[in-house]
Amino acid sequence: KVRAAVFASGTGSNFQAIMEAGLHDDVALLVCDKPGAAVIDLAQDFAVPTFVFDPKHYDSKADYESAVLEHLRGKNITWVFLAGYMRIIGPTLLNAYPDKMINIHPSLLPDFPGKDAIGQAYEAGVSTTGVTVHYIDDGVDTGPIITQQKVSVFPDDTKEILTNRIQQMEHKLYPQVIQQLMKSEQ
Ligand code: GAR
Repeated sequence: KVRAAVFASGTGSNFQAIMEAGLHDDVALLVCDKPGAAVIDLAQDFAVPTFVFDPKHYDSKADYESAVLEHLRGKNITWVFLAGYMRIIGPTLLNAYPDKMINIHPSLLPDFPGKDAIGQAYEAGVSTTGVTVHYIDDGVDTGPIITQQKVSVFPDDTKEILTNRIQQMEHKLYPQVIQQLMKSEQ
């Protein structure tokens, strides 16, 4: 059976959308690098096991990624879906899950990679931005694109309104893509 882990660092609205889209039985682990993050409580609500760690307590990225990897292997995880995981994936995890790690990013990549993509697009004054789902590679938001959806920016949008519009698109798109990827190899 294919089994997924979701990696998240914050609020977890994408994690919640994945759970509520009927993928609950396919997600066997939440990995979180931020003790106290809201997504941890959400995972508990959905009875999804969690591995929470603080990178500060490890000497290196290789060390904490090895700890993560042990948990992934312990649960026989075959797919990793990043949902607001705000760390760059290093070779320890990438080499263990080649072509099996997916990310969602709130812009039309290659535009506005990195942090605060919505703010970047807002400040740039673009009239169209969007959402990208892509494979992870060793760059920052550079991996092969699976799919993109456009989101309009209207002249009187606040950054908050735009954020909401983009996140609504994410919550629709990401569960669909995840479902398809997992189905394709059952
Ligand atoms: C989402 O908008 C996601 O696309 C973004 O973080 C947010 C997490 O929200 N990810 C990135 O910016 C990755 N570079 P959530 O915790 O409510 O799902």
